[in-house]
Amino acid sequence: MHVAQTVAREAGELVRAGREGEVSVAGTKSSAQDVVTAMDLASEALLRRRLAELRPDDGLLGEEGSLTPGSSGVWWVVDPIDGTVNYLYGLPAYAVSVAAVRSPVGTSPDPATWTVLAGCVLAPKDGRVFLAGLGQGATLDGRTLQVNEPQPLIGCLVGTGFGYVAARRRNQARVVAGLLPQVRDIRRIGSAALDLCTLASGGLDLYYERGLQPWDLAAGSLVAQEAGAVVTGLRGHRAGEAMTVAGPPGRVEELVAYLEASDADQDS
Ligand code: IPD
Repeated sequence: MHVAQTVAREAGELVRAGREGEVSVAGTKSSAQDVVTAMDLASEALLRRRLAELRPDDGLLGEEGSLTPGSSGVWWVVDPIDGTVNYLYGLPAYAVSVAAVRSPVGTSPDPATWTVLAGCVLAPKDGRVFLAGLGQGATLDGRTLQVNEPQPLIGCLVGTGFGYVAARRRNQARVVAGLLPQVRDIRRIGSAALDLCTLASGGLDLYYERGLQPWDLAAGSLVAQEAGAVVTGLRGHRAGEAMTVAGPPGRVEELVAYLEASDADQDS
């Protein structure tokens, strides 16, 4: 946890200071909407350099292309800016996400098989630090986190997010349109790591999203889980790209049932 927090703080300071200058788009990825800024690349370079110094035997998987196996069986899974579109527009909901995971020998980090050992999600704009260690609970700035008690679905504030590719968005729009009349309201914060941490700290009752990548999910899923959430996929699968659903036991099952019946794990 200490290493995760140390490097997340350093990257967070770089990213926060960088927002005071001009933010430049360095390229696009899955679609024209899916941007990468120069600061995403700089933050990942910092994380790569510092983790190599502090944990030279571990592997690294990062959103901006890092994929370096190590010899220890532990991998660092990092998102140098989760919420890049918010960062580009000057909106505060962006984060640096750093997790240590154990993966089966010879495999790279995969939510279907990994064990997340530790995670830190740091929100540079206001300095909030979410931390979790496997079996050690989750904290926000040192305060222990606990998810909300299960509410009837109609009383739930539900977070979600959307992919960047039109075929996926079409189905996501259909699914959220069916859910909206059944819940208190919907939030689209724009950073999956912060969605999961917001759930952990009681700012959301439920969360689901299709399309999360390992770096979006790793640290935040441990924070949510250690705060008492179930973090799962659909149809008996673990949370991952097909679908991630999180919430308190006793309520998450109802959302899972709706998402399965709606084929929310498909694209149009
Ligand atoms: C994105 C954010 C967003 C989610 C997208 C992710 P990025 O990550 O987490 O909330 O809806 O699916 O790709 O691209 O800003 O690191």
